[in-house]
Amino acid sequence: EDAALLQRFQERIDAEERIEPNDWMPEAYRRTLVRQISQHAHSEIIGMQPEGNWITRAPSLRRKAALLAKVQDECGHGLYLYAAAETLGVAREEMVEQLLAGKAKYSSIFNYPTLTWADIGAIGWLVDGAAIMNQIPLCRCSYGPYARAMIRVCKEESFHQRQGYEIMLTLCRGNGAQKEMAQDALNRWWWPCLMMFGPPDAASQHTDTSTRWKIKRFTNDELRQKFIDATVPQAHFLGLTVPDPDLRFDEATGHWAHGAIDWEEFRQVVAGNGPCNAQRMERRRRTEEDGAWVRDAARAFAEKEKSRHRA
Ligand code: 3HC
Repeated sequence: EDAALLQRFQERIDAEERIEPNDWMPEAYRRTLVRQISQHAHSEIIGMQPEGNWITRAPSLRRKAALLAKVQDECGHGLYLYAAAETLGVAREEMVEQLLAGKAKYSSIFNYPTLTWADIGAIGWLVDGAAIMNQIPLCRCSYGPYARAMIRVCKEESFHQRQGYEIMLTLCRGNGAQKEMAQDALNRWWWPCLMMFGPPDAASQHTDTSTRWKIKRFTNDELRQKFIDATVPQAHFLGLTVPDPDLRFDEATGHWAHGAIDWEEFRQVVAGNGPCNAQRMERRRRTEEDGAWVRDAARAFAEKEKSRHRA
């Protein structure tokens, strides 16, 4: 690419200008955005499965209504994000094809099972809590359509996080068995949530370009630390124990120092060998087939409409 164009582009990024779909952009900027935004969208859609697993078994109508609304929101987040990615010239069918063919990733966190109702509380509190940490800075991402999609998503995420935390609070103020369920959920979701922020900075292949182009405003380790610092006091308020024996508050830095993360587990889950990867992909492929008739009908209707207006 023309060095002058590249330099002009970087000057725009450094001046905090928003890049819009019709602006000139380096091919690598476009490619890394399609990669990140489409995988973000895939995560939202796959993420409906673990939560959806408890809609028919929610303990009350109020819990069921809140969970239904949350799962519906996740689907909407996926659609905003596919639409944002389409502004970069990639077709929705192509992105979905990459997911179904196992060529595109989705967040590791959704490959863990939801074994009890407390998992729905832990997901809202921890997974959506982590998502908020990651998505707030993305509202200031240099690519306009992605940043604007994030502003809408973040408003809905805060409701998700609050309803999850309230479920955990109710369980922790309940009887012994309920408190045990909440502790068991924290034990199983804590470490996978830390992995959700991505590999350590030293092993992150995209962080340098993503930060230079202001797609990423903080590195993976910085966001992970922000999440830990915000969440440990909440666990203590709930009366729960964070399953990390090395966790301790470092007065000097003002941060919670934590134990080693099992990056082998992360690698295995991302490679497709997590507890639920096969089930999540099998379900997503099946829903793609089951939904084919809806897409065919919509296309046929659109064709008819077009020819009606031509006539
Ligand atoms: N799960 C799966 N793959 C992951 C991952 C994770 N948790 N973290 C990183 N990876 C992948 C990256 O995609 C990249 O692989 P690729 O080149 O094939 O795409 C590789 O590991 C190296 O990681 P990097 O740190 O170099 O990659 P990024 O710079 O893209 O950083 C990220 C990773 C922080 C997840 C970034 O992509 C991001 O911010 N994405 C947008 C947010 C997002 O996708 N969140 C997922 C959860 S969605 C959600 O929480 C919904 C909520 O409503 C519950």
